[in-house]
Amino acid sequence: MNTAHHTTPLDVPAVNVLSADKTYPDGTVALKPVDLKIRQGEFVTLLGPSGCGKSTLLKMIAGLLEPTDGRIHLWNKPIDQPSDKRCTFVFQAPTLMPWADVQTNVRLPLDLSGVPRDEADRRVDDALEMVGLEKFSKSLPRALSGGMQMRVSIARGLVVQPNLLLMDEPFGALDEITRFKLDSDLLALWREKNLTVIFVTHSIHEAAFLSSRVIVMAPRPGRVIEQIAINTSHPRNEEFMVSPEFAQLSKRLQVALHHASATEVTV
Ligand SMILES: Nc1ncnc2c1ncn2[C@@H]1O[C@H](COP(=O)(O)OP(=O)(O)OP(=O)(O)O)[C@@H](O)[C@H]1O
Ligand SMILES: [Mg+2]
Repeated sequence: MNTAHHTTPLDVPAVNVLSADKTYPDGTVALKPVDLKIRQGEFVTLLGPSGCGKSTLLKMIAGLLEPTDGRIHLWNKPIDQPSDKRCTFVFQAPTLMPWADVQTNVRLPLDLSGVPRDEADRRVDDALEMVGLEKFSKSLPRALSGGMQMRVSIARGLVVQPNLLLMDEPFGALDEITRFKLDSDLLALWREKNLTVIFVTHSIHEAAFLSSRVIVMAPRPGRVIEQIAINTSHPRNEEFMVSPEFAQLSKRLQVALHHASATEVTV
């Protein structure tokens, strides 16, 4: 049997956005045409002020929203075609079912797609271990802190064994310390699972800490204005965050963001 189609040549982009734009039905131009190629294994952040189209772009990549014009391919296939690659979306709010315990919340995508119970339970255990919540599988969401609820939400995303993880400001509502811990754990998962991650944030520091590439966006109309690759050999840890390299990187992103606000088209 020919299994060649199961391997992904390295030159096939995980995500290929081909002049995709979005105008909402009320006439709002949320996004001017975007061209963007993301390789397997990249950690890309979308950084920009409110209203620059970050969520719109992410939702289009997830197939939750159709571009007005242009196309988006995942591993060289249009989004709506069957694929052996899986994509998962983690929202800003954990959106857990309050009446169901942690394991039931995490199992939901598997129940919905009819995965047999034994296998589902095994995968739920794995996912909870990945986010460090194996001891809380029987807890109700309200018994958990905000950071832990977000971990549940991430576990629910990981349980489908995704190739592509899309995260829309997942840690925006958390305090700095919890956020740093979750950022660090996410990086470890990204490495271990060879994930491709697209991560939306307002935070310059979070973008500098996490990314292998930052896509800087500007609002009114939403568009990509700059791409900055981060090729540091520094391990991404607390030391990195206080290094001169990190300060320089943050400054560079700050300047790009300032430019993003300054280039607003007001007509
Ligand atoms: N369903 C919709 N109908 C009309 N306009 C919309 C809709 N959703 C978003 N918009 C508008 O499109 C633009 C881009 O919105 P989007 O939510 O993608 O931005 P964002 O960068 O994610 O912002 P934020 O940082 O506030 O989440 C904004 O001007 C927004 O008001
Ligand atoms: Mg948004």
